[in-house]
Amino acid sequence: MDRDNHVLITGGAGFIGSHLARALLAADKQVSVIDNLSTGLHSNVADLEANPDFRLYVDTIQDVSLMQKLMMECGTVYHLASAVGVRLIMEQPVATIDTIYQGTEVVLRLARRYRNRVLITSTSEVYGKSTKVPYCEDDDRVEGPTTKHRWAYACAKALDEFLALAHWKETRLPVAIVRLFNTVGPRQRGQYGMVVPRFVEQALAGDDLIVHGDGTQSRCFCHVYDVVQALIMLVNSSTAWGQIFNVGSTEEISIRGLAELIVQRLESPSQIRTIPYSEAYGEGFEDMQRRIPSIERIRLAVGWSPTLSINDVIDDVAAEFRDGRLGD
Ligand SMILES: NC(=O)c1ccc[n+]([C@@H]2O[C@H](COP(=O)([O-])OP(=O)(O)OC[C@H]3O[C@@H](n4cnc5c(N)ncnc54)[C@H](O)[C@@H]3O)[C@@H](O)[C@H]2O)c1
Repeated sequence: MDRDNHVLITGGAGFIGSHLARALLAADKQVSVIDNLSTGLHSNVADLEANPDFRLYVDTIQDVSLMQKLMMECGTVYHLASAVGVRLIMEQPVATIDTIYQGTEVVLRLARRYRNRVLITSTSEVYGKSTKVPYCEDDDRVEGPTTKHRWAYACAKALDEFLALAHWKETRLPVAIVRLFNTVGPRQRGQYGMVVPRFVEQALAGDDLIVHGDGTQSRCFCHVYDVVQALIMLVNSSTAWGQIFNVGSTEEISIRGLAELIVQRLESPSQIRTIPYSEAYGEGFEDMQRRIPSIERIRLAVGWSPTLSINDVIDDVAAEFRDGRLGD
């Protein structure tokens, strides 16, 4: 295989990774995926396995010898493998830290040896409890205490960012970091606390939509198709190396507003019900009231901005549930 045309996607059987794999194959890239199927699904990529340009390795990124082989073969690494989702993070606190920090350490150490281009997926969670609107990449972070486990995800991702920037500083390793804000679309699952697929599924079934807290907390939801384009544009631009980019929608909606929109758009008879956070995630859980990205930096660097709306997201997610395309 031609190394320059060959990409590795860690976590490529997951939600975003499986969309990225399709987009890269459509652009005539050769794509290898490593995924331990902890939250990813074989069915997300099963249809790609007939393509001679696609390979799936079901294994962990903590397997250094396999990662060494894969990173020698591939010019570019999109590093998406991670513990993901608030519920999973609260339920598997040790694995969360191990996967995020150790996994990224392996990717960056090998990238330094084999001079891969690397894109690291971080998260808007690193802004923590900051109330600034909108969040800019160089803003101060406001993290909660280490006794509240929710913050482990943000801290481990922030450490990944420090490590990536340190590699850039020391050896000019070509690495870019994206802080993803809420990304939504087909193939995202509700079981890890992801709000859009959970509400859509509840609305289609006529069940109550369960809003955590009072529902006034707001988010910006970006279609996964737009996010995948941002990742590809950044990897292809040398101006991105050594930098952090917010990637997300700037269209803000409250969680109650989202529930109402989904019920209305899907013409569902469902009712909307609120439950306290403590009932959903246990005592001591903290949530952010607003989380809005500034996307000026990525707009200036590569000309990216979202093209799809929350209505497009709802329609695409509902179409998937209606078609029964959710496998495994
Ligand atoms: N979806 C979002 O809204 C969002 C927001 C912020 C950041 N992110 C980041 O984007 C990336 C992709 O997230 P996603 O939404 O597609 O979630 P996902 O859970 O669908 O994807 C993560 C993938 O990583 C795999 N994985 C986990 N541990 C692994 C390991 N040790 N070895 C190999 N594979 C492993 C999982 O099986 C899964 O397929 C993650 O790094 C996540 O932190 C996502």
